Amino acid sequence: MDEPRSHIEVSAEAAERVQTLRSALNHHNYLYYVMDSPLVSDLEYDALFRELRTLEEKFPELVSPESPTQRVGAELITTFAALAHRAPMLSLDNAFGDEELLEWEHRLKRYVGMPSDADIEYITELKIDGLSINLTYENGRLKTAATRGNGTVGEDVTPNIRAVRAIPLELRSAPPDQAIPALIEVRGEVFMSHQEFARINEANELAGQATFANPRNAAAGSLRQKDPSITAGRRLDVFLYAVGVCDGISFNSQNNLLQGYSRWGLRTNPNIKVCRNLREALQFIHEWHERKDELNYDIDGVVVKVNSFALQAELGYVSRSPRWAIAYKYPALQVRTKVEAILLQEGMTGALTPVAQLTPVTVAGVVVSRATLHNEDEIRRKDVRVGDTVVIQRAGEVIPEVVEVIVSDRTGIEVPFSMPLQCPFCDEPVTRPEGEAVTRCPNRLCPEKIRQRLQHFVSRNAMDIESLGGKRIDQMIDSGLVKDASDLYILQLEQLLPLDRMGEKLAGNIITAVDQSRERALNRLIFALGIRHVGVHTSEILAEHFRSLDSLMAASEEDLSKIHEVGLATAQSVAGFFADPENRNLVSKLLERGVKPQLPEGEPRSDRFADQTYVFTGALTYYTREQAELLVRQGGGRASGSVSKNTTCVVVGENAGSKLVKAQQLGVPILTEEQFRAMVEEQ
Ligand code: IVH
Repeated sequence: MDEPRSHIEVSAEAAERVQTLRSALNHHNYLYYVMDSPLVSDLEYDALFRELRTLEEKFPELVSPESPTQRVGAELITTFAALAHRAPMLSLDNAFGDEELLEWEHRLKRYVGMPSDADIEYITELKIDGLSINLTYENGRLKTAATRGNGTVGEDVTPNIRAVRAIPLELRSAPPDQAIPALIEVRGEVFMSHQEFARINEANELAGQATFANPRNAAAGSLRQKDPSITAGRRLDVFLYAVGVCDGISFNSQNNLLQGYSRWGLRTNPNIKVCRNLREALQFIHEWHERKDELNYDIDGVVVKVNSFALQAELGYVSRSPRWAIAYKYPALQVRTKVEAILLQEGMTGALTPVAQLTPVTVAGVVVSRATLHNEDEIRRKDVRVGDTVVIQRAGEVIPEVVEVIVSDRTGIEVPFSMPLQCPFCDEPVTRPEGEAVTRCPNRLCPEKIRQRLQHFVSRNAMDIESLGGKRIDQMIDSGLVKDASDLYILQLEQLLPLDRMGEKLAGNIITAVDQSRERALNRLIFALGIRHVGVHTSEILAEHFRSLDSLMAASEEDLSKIHEVGLATAQSVAGFFADPENRNLVSKLLERGVKPQLPEGEPRSDRFADQTYVFTGALTYYTREQAELLVRQGGGRASGSVSKNTTCVVVGENAGSKLVKAQQLGVPILTEEQFRAMVEEQ
């Protein structure tokens, strides 16, 4: 009779089986994600996975953090702690169009003293529209994962990244020719496929939860989940393409690095090309512009990198971007849709802007149902008619616009637009002065104009009366409580209570908010008046120059036009505004009813930025453009709209374009928004 097998023996056998199962699972993962040629079905994979989990449950001493069963821990993340990158994570300079790419190469060659007809070898890679990530592997084991953050410090998202099956917990190694480094920072892009995006949005919709606007947002939301099991269920994907610190192994080119990554089981994008020269790189760029809809994920361009690491080292960095790489950005997405109607919008100065109401379409993940047509002449030039199929385009933050009409789609029932002779909101005859493109409603009592003026008066950059935005103002106008901005300051609680959906608490909040706005700075009040050509910046200039409403009102056109940065049109507009007795009356009523403008906000409070000129470009995320410029002025500096050799510094947000290029050409220092913020906050 056999002796009962000892626990040790069973464990040894189990240990061997556990090893076999882990290797098999890792190998299948590798075949699936890296080689793109799976050998087994999901069912077979799951069977191996379950067997491993059962064995590990039975012999917990066999569990190790690198086991495929250990991707999702039970613990919830409480905060995403800061995690410093060992080497900074850089960003890329952009090229919009072929010409800018040629200019870039020209600069490269000049920098290293190469003849202009020499060929440089490049590698072209798709620019994945996801989130950059930094993975640290120590002796082949995934230790930490961080988001890019400000490039120096990111957020620790290790538990969530461990839940991404496309990211190996352990690098594959086969020494000696496939040794692994003692320490390496592997960088790349986490993203969500179109298919997965559709699946998640469908599920969210069924569950009555909010849906994501685009795959990038969905990926970002999934990565910042506090519950890693949710991230695991979201099936994020990754492409790895860059390296931070790397100890003990060296690569001689980007292509060589990518090959090394694949051997280690790190997923890289197959759509790359080593190009003998820039011409070949341009071919790749144009080819993928045509073909990008074939992909199951979003790209927003192509990254062109100098292939040789030796040449990369020679080229080095400028500010936070390498000289040796550039992102070629594809132009804004264009989509076709139908014009259902052409409506007019009235602005606070009475300008009537035609707007196309469209059959809703998704452009780059955002649903668009309106596009501006600018003015009557533009409509005529493009010959946009109601019923037309049109191409619309969305570029960055800008309002979508109609690019062109597909004339061949016309059926003959399309209706041309003509500007009405009367204002659609008040029926008064409209005017269009000689030589101007804009049609206006001249009626000062036009209800739409009053509404727009009041909306502007309470808006964030004006008097900032938050609780009065949107529908509340409409209610007050409709009920006759408010006819102009000065009426806000005599509102009584009892008058508000009869309004629809208005309780004591809300009414009280409104009265308090209005009351607090009495002491806003002078520049805000000037801006709030809604004078044509007087934006946030000009309001500050006027406030600083005149320092009181009385002296501004007394200024002649000539006085005004002498002020630096105030042009003739602005001078005329301001003088004209205050020459109008109605406007003077509004100002007196505001002052009578207790509005007490304070000294301008732009008044220097420190000399942090004394004698310095800052330019902000691109989309800022933490500050609004106005806030950032104000901070510079409060520090005694100047904020300007254009880059010159006198610019002290250019602060770049997302999607910065020509100003950034200019700064680089002139050698003007460049800061990220985070660096600017750090500077401001350290004061
Ligand atoms: S290389 C120093 N390659 O684009 C070079 N970046 O606009 C570092 N990106 O922050 C970047 N695909 O998040 C590189 N194939 C690719 C990329 C890529 C997407 C992202 C990355 C970077 C951003 C810069």
